[in-house]
Parts: sequence; structure tokens; C-alpha cells
Amino acid sequence: MPTTPLPLVPQPSRAERLDHPDFVLSEAAAIHAPDALRSSAQFLADRLATCTGWDFPVNDRTGDIRIKFNLLSTLPPQSYQLLVAPKEILISAATAAGAFYAVQTLLQLFPPAVYDQQPRPDLKWTAPCADIEDAPRFGWRGVMVDSSRFFQPLPALKKFIDVLAQHKINVLHWHLVDDQGWRIEIKRYPKLTAIGSKRRESPRGHMAVNLRNGQSLGGDGKPVEGYYTQDEVRELVAYAAARHINILPEIEMPGHAQAAIAAYPELGLLAEAKPVSCKWGIHDTLFNTKPETITFLENVLTEVVALFPFAYLHIGGDEAIKPQWEQDAATQAHLKTLGLKDEHELQSWFIRQAETILKKLDRKLVGWDEILEGGLAPSATVMSWRGLEGAIESAKHGNDAIMCPNPFVYFDHYQAEDWGTEPLAIGGNSPLAKVHGYEPIPAELTADQAKHIIGVQGQLWTEYIATPTRLEFMAFPRVCALAEIAWCPAARPDFAHFLTRLKTHLRRLDVQDVRYRAPLEYVHA
Ligand code: ACM
Repeated sequence: MPTTPLPLVPQPSRAERLDHPDFVLSEAAAIHAPDALRSSAQFLADRLATCTGWDFPVNDRTGDIRIKFNLLSTLPPQSYQLLVAPKEILISAATAAGAFYAVQTLLQLFPPAVYDQQPRPDLKWTAPCADIEDAPRFGWRGVMVDSSRFFQPLPALKKFIDVLAQHKINVLHWHLVDDQGWRIEIKRYPKLTAIGSKRRESPRGHMAVNLRNGQSLGGDGKPVEGYYTQDEVRELVAYAAARHINILPEIEMPGHAQAAIAAYPELGLLAEAKPVSCKWGIHDTLFNTKPETITFLENVLTEVVALFPFAYLHIGGDEAIKPQWEQDAATQAHLKTLGLKDEHELQSWFIRQAETILKKLDRKLVGWDEILEGGLAPSATVMSWRGLEGAIESAKHGNDAIMCPNPFVYFDHYQAEDWGTEPLAIGGNSPLAKVHGYEPIPAELTADQAKHIIGVQGQLWTEYIATPTRLEFMAFPRVCALAEIAWCPAARPDFAHFLTRLKTHLRRLDVQDVRYRAPLEYVHA
């Protein structure tokens, strides 16, 4: 019996090679699935047709590859079984998502050219016989992309979604607005994009260097603009949904609001609003707390919710430093009228307004861990980014949390100890081994509290990621490691095992022209 592991990423819960002759995909093969699972069968048929140049009919009667429901009620959602035998392939799944993940695993059993856009009828299309049983550890397996600091064209996002789906990632958190750009069309407030989506330039060099010696290198003189129309958003949401990925939109408040306020100065606190920011780092521009501003946010969120069917919506909440609230007489009067102690409580009040709006819109609120300060909104889900504490506090409080801690899963950080070998990044160091070794459940939580840790997510902030190519370089192969953390059981295979499988996996990325960073472990081997 061969002992090399099947080159699957993420590693399934149980995957056994069977000592039989390989399954050979023939030009005459058919795929069978009931109507409710047809979309996954069609996804498989389309992929195999593209890479072979052959045509694979999908029918509801019989086939060489058969997909069916497993009706055992005790099966976890998104679970599947996959049996590859010499003459047939059988998939059974608890849900349509499970069938889709089985298809993703099956594709990885074929040669890496299975991801090719050019037909290769000359290749031998075989898959080793295997018996696989699989289910995810976490329900939320996310990756965040910042489209505010730099704008990614729609085709680049589709390519990115394709690759996320291959890793069984199921949430794309879309950071659509920030101080440096508002990137989603809101019909009621056209200036958000007419003004808010454009900035003059970006900082040259590294902001920390500029700040440390006071000698700013200045701007690069290159304008940045771009936004997604509502039609484009709908197109991307549907594209992701077909790959079992939900898109989580993020609309930042009360900070990271400078682009919005540049467009509509009455939302802010200064007599003369600042322009869309051309600098990185934390800004002091906040929304004011007037009823008209809350109404503006309600109107924006109402349009956003109409575009994104996901049950959750992210309202930001991070890094809202408070000098503008402290110095504004009307805000201070409002704070006193509300009977609040300080600006932290006012931020908490602000987030509760968002929670009330989202309740009306039938969405659950997600926010960065600062929303814990000044009192947590009762139904909020917290993204713990500054460390583990936000998640620990939330879980103890009975609120759900998602693990996004920057020491481990910030993919804008460097990928090596020696920064000199790497392109300019924001700082921090999160090499592949560190990502792969991260355990998302904090040790101090009881088993009951740990149930509130609903998942784990990698972050791609784009201050130093100006192009889709650089985005791929920073994302991969760290997203491959993230997929293991998010999908595999707690007792997952070690880093050496992962590296063995990753070698073949990177060839799949090569075929798709994904510009990943070569792991030093191979370069130095
Ligand atoms: C964050 O990194 N400011 C959430």
C-alpha cells in the first residue's frame, strides 16, 4: 500500500488510499445527480469538460460519477463521503454544500491540469482509488479583502473566489469603504462614489518610516479610483454563491469614515471636511452622532442589504479614536443627554443604533473587537483582531466570535523573518508555518464557551498590496494553511505533512496562474 498522503488541501477528516487500479475518466462518462444536487454535478461537469475538451452530460438516472444525498440525520452539515473505485465514483453529501466540497476534493484527485482553461484531451485523466469521509471543523472559514485602499477589478475578484472555493473557504469578507475610498455604488447618495471613490495619490514608501523620522517621502502622484456598481456587486455575489461562498459586506462606522464625509461633509464634525485620505494609518475623522447621520446610515445599509443575501453584515467599529467627539460641543451635549459616561459609551450607543437598523433589516451585526468597549451590543458577533482577548471576552459573555488575530492570520504581514527578502509590507511577521500552527480555540475557554468561536478568518489589508498579483502573492500559500486551520479537526496533520501535500497543490495554483509566494521551505530544501 503506498504511504504518500493523497495531495489534498485541506486534509480531509479521513482519507484512505485504496490499493486498486486508478479510476480512468473516459470521454463517454456521465454524471448523475438528483435535481437538488445538480448545481454541484454541473460544476464538476463544466470543469472536466473545460480541461478535457469532452462533454459530460448530467442526468438524474445513472452515471459513472454519482452524487446523492446521505439522509442520515446525524451527519454534520457540509459533510460528505467520496469513494473513488476503479469503475465508478460515488459521492454522498448531507447538503448541497457538502456535495460541492466533495467535488472540490475529487478535482484534487485528478492531475493539476484539471484546473486548466485549455482542453488537454492528450492527458491521462485518472484519479487514485480512495475512501474519504469529511466535514469541516468550523462553520465560518473566511478571508477578508480590502478593496478601499486599492481597488481590485471584478475579474481579479472572481479568480480569487475560484481559488478560495477550492480551499473550501465559505466567507469572503469585503472591506468596501474606508478613509481612502468608498467603493460601492449607493443610488441614494451618488457623491459617495462620485467623490468618495477617488483619491489623488498614495503614500510613497512606508508610513512608519515617514512617521519615525518626520521626513515624509510624500505621495506617489498616482490617482486611485474605482467602485463597484450595484449590478457588479450582484454579479459577484451570485458568482460566489455558486461556489458556496457568502460575501460579508463591511460598511465602517463611526471611524474609517473620511471618504464618506469627504462626499457629504454634513456627516462629520469639521466646518470644512478633509478630502478622501491619501495617507495610511489611523485617522481621527468620525461620523457625528446626529439623527440625520443615523438615517443616512440606515439608508445606506438598506441598499447594501438588498445586494447581499448573507445573514450577517459588518459595521467595522475599529480604531475610532475620539478627539473629534471630545472637542465637539454638540456631541458632548448629546452624550450627556443620553446619560453616557464617556466617548467609549457613545461609540457603544452608535453601534447599538446600527444593531437596531440591522435587526429591522433582518441581518446579524458583526464588528471588530473594539465594539466590546463601552458595552457590547447584545446580539453582536465579534471579530477578534488585536489578539485573542476580544474573542475570550465575547465567548464568556455569550456572544459569538470569529478569530482574526493579527499575530497569526494577517496576510498583509511579512512572510519571512528576514524582511529584506520580501516586498514592502505593513510590518509584522506571519510566515506559513506560524499560520499553519495557529489553534483558533483559546485554551482558557470551557467547552461551552468554545462553542461561541464560530470560525477563523485571514485578513488582506491592502495598503501595501496595490495590484491583484501582489494580493495573490500575499494570500497564497497562507490561505492554504488557513484552510487547514478552519477545516481540519483540531488534531490535524503537522506542518511537514502539509508541506508534502502543498507541493502538488502549488502546481494546481501554477495551472491557474496564481502568483503565490514560493515557500522558503522548498527553496532551501
Ligand atoms: C483592523 O485591522 N483595523 C481591524
